[in-house]
Amino acid sequence: MANIKFTNNGPISLNVSSGDVLEDSEGNNITLDTEEVYLCRCGQSSNKPFCDGTHAVLGFDSSKGIQDFVKQE
Ligand code: FES
Repeated sequence: MANIKFTNNGPISLNVSSGDVLEDSEGNNITLDTEEVYLCRCGQSSNKPFCDGTHAVLGFDSSKGIQDFVKQE
């Protein structure tokens, strides 16, 4: 059974099986070689669809939702 968790002020955590395939927004298949993946929720990762930790640097606040998030430069 899938376990999907919205972390506080961070990514979406998915428990998967190694070998599962994730399809990105452009239709590319990504074969997973891990049992846990973190999907970007802030929209600012440079490694989408995966989280690269940028949310922490930019102070993403998940209580506001992505529409209220403005990238700090
Ligand atoms: S949620 Fe981590 S970089 Fe977007």
